[in-house]
Amino acid sequence: MKGGHPIFKIETGLGKVVTMLLSTLRLSSIMDTPGFEVIEGIRLLPGGATLLTEERVLVVADLHLGCEAALEYEGLSIPRVQTRKIGQYLDKVIRDVRPDRMVVAGDLKHNFSRNLAQEWQDIERFIEGLNDSVALEVVKGNHDNYLGIILREFRIPYGKETSVSGIRILHGHSGQLDGRTTIIGHIHPSLRLRDSVGASFKDHCYLFDEERRVLVLPALSLVSYGTDVVSQPSSDGMSPLLSGRGLADFVPIAFSGDRQLSFPKVGLLRDMRRTGS
Ligand SMILES: [Fe+2]
Repeated sequence: MKGGHPIFKIETGLGKVVTMLLSTLRLSSIMDTPGFEVIEGIRLLPGGATLLTEERVLVVADLHLGCEAALEYEGLSIPRVQTRKIGQYLDKVIRDVRPDRMVVAGDLKHNFSRNLAQEWQDIERFIEGLNDSVALEVVKGNHDNYLGIILREFRIPYGKETSVSGIRILHGHSGQLDGRTTIIGHIHPSLRLRDSVGASFKDHCYLFDEERRVLVLPALSLVSYGTDVVSQPSSDGMSPLLSGRGLADFVPIAFSGDRQLSFPKVGLLRDMRRTGS
């Protein structure tokens, strides 16, 4: 029928209004979102979580839940606070940015050889704490041996890597770059900053290589605090994905509160450290 059915016309008009309203709401929600858009579609948030804005997927890495129990086996006793603290941080991020899904880019748990009792408890507490607020997917890290047994109970999708809006997400302990924009964890990057009187402070940072379009996420773990990528050039060899060029072309990105801090590339920071400039 020429011009289509009248009811279809009304629905199409309403659909357009609803679509415009939704895009306006989504745009204002993205504009209100804290953090820094490192490349179109990837927004780094203070504290270590990253939002993939097209599908509103949160990506985090290296939680190392149960790390405290593993340290106790080595004779070091520390308070078991990681799961609660990480849960509180993610609760706030989920409230602030309202993601549809969350991907853990590896090392959800810590112990290599088996699932410790604390790991079972902490992972169950972590999943239950999400309270169905987001769908969870986990990518396997080098610490995640036997994690599949726990995740199967909760029917959580679990694999070697995943893709969101064409962005590849994997842990980074194995594999090669394939030309896609890629997000990894594994390196636990951090920076040690010194002031003019010699006081120093070490904090997590993101690393981003604009040319290769590779983003390295900081660890969310409070215990496994990270590799200073400037004073430890051995960090170049931590991921086979970065073989050859290492981390020299990466720019560290950190936050002071909600404020983004900019730095020169890691290679230049290492030169400055060597020459004392
Ligand atoms: Fe890790």
